[in-house]
Amino acid sequence: MSSAPVITLHQPKRLLVGAGTIGEVGPWAGDVSSTLVIATPITVGFVDRLKLPGKISVFDAIPGEPEIATLDAALAAARAAKPDLVVGLGGGSVMDVAKLVAALWDGEQTLADVAGPNKVTGRKTRLAQVATTAGTGSEAGIRSLITDPVKGSKIAVESPHLIADLAVLDPELTYSVPPAVTAATGVDAMAHCVEAFTNRRAHPMIDGFARMGFHLVGKFLARAVKDGSDREAREGLMLASYYGGICLGPVNTAAGHAIAYPLGTLLHLPHGLANAIVFPHVLAFNQPVMTDKTAEVAEALGLGKNLSQADLSSAAHGFCADLGIQMSLAKHGAAEADLPRFAADAHAIRRLMDNNPVDMSVNDVLGIYRASF
Ligand SMILES: [Fe+2]
Repeated sequence: MSSAPVITLHQPKRLLVGAGTIGEVGPWAGDVSSTLVIATPITVGFVDRLKLPGKISVFDAIPGEPEIATLDAALAAARAAKPDLVVGLGGGSVMDVAKLVAALWDGEQTLADVAGPNKVTGRKTRLAQVATTAGTGSEAGIRSLITDPVKGSKIAVESPHLIADLAVLDPELTYSVPPAVTAATGVDAMAHCVEAFTNRRAHPMIDGFARMGFHLVGKFLARAVKDGSDREAREGLMLASYYGGICLGPVNTAAGHAIAYPLGTLLHLPHGLANAIVFPHVLAFNQPVMTDKTAEVAEALGLGKNLSQADLSSAAHGFCADLGIQMSLAKHGAAEADLPRFAADAHAIRRLMDNNPVDMSVNDVLGIYRASF
């Protein structure tokens, strides 16, 4: 066996884990004079629980998939508020915008300047990330994804300057997340772990976080979907999401996320849902070269042992469908004529496709969309 590749891990400076920890944000913030909270019309209801001192401004116009215009509006709000602290209070969309607002609002750089790895030159404003869903793990990492609606693709910004000074994992904030969102975001967290685990760039240390993550999802996701106030299940999923976020840093996802992205940018499906639809097919596609690791995933999710490719795919499909996820692309409004465009776009996302343990041709990708149709 060859030695493991060198990896770099960026982690939030401080991490608070546990019920009620949202109330620690204010005391941590200390004598902050102006805070900008990035939120959604739903998560804005948690602002008081932050117990922030000083002037508080709120920008809550964050849609499911943040676009360039979303970021521009949030930056304008920041220029008006002149914050010394930016708080991301929401899921991945909110936290991704918060990262860029904290880094860019008071400087010269634009989104175009910072697209790609290591282009952000610095950040003076403090950043706290308070996750309100268990899925993206965005609070753990240094990457932000913004949709370019013209190109129909994601702009990925990655920089150590996007790391949080404080990240908060408070499961109480997820009790009110509805079952469908719980299911989809939970599968997203699991997909981060599984795609990093069965990845061409897999690393033993990240494998450890990935294992913890997909075991937690196997154990707790169905419970949290059934009973949103199941505290143990919600706590478990919050950790799974964070572990998934760690997986995204040094290893990242692979074909599953690449194939899911066009469903978000072009069909406007929520990110977790898009990943769930694709997941069974990619897991089975990669099985022949990732036999042992795939078997580990299958067992952790309760899919069974010694499964053929077809049985694995249908068991994974059943896992998602049993969570109440509608797994048919046609039922989500896709037209069969759209699939070749999706396939061409997904295949072109080389930063993820090149991580996949098996090379996929455009036709392979098209086959996966057809099977999901
Ligand atoms: Fe994801």
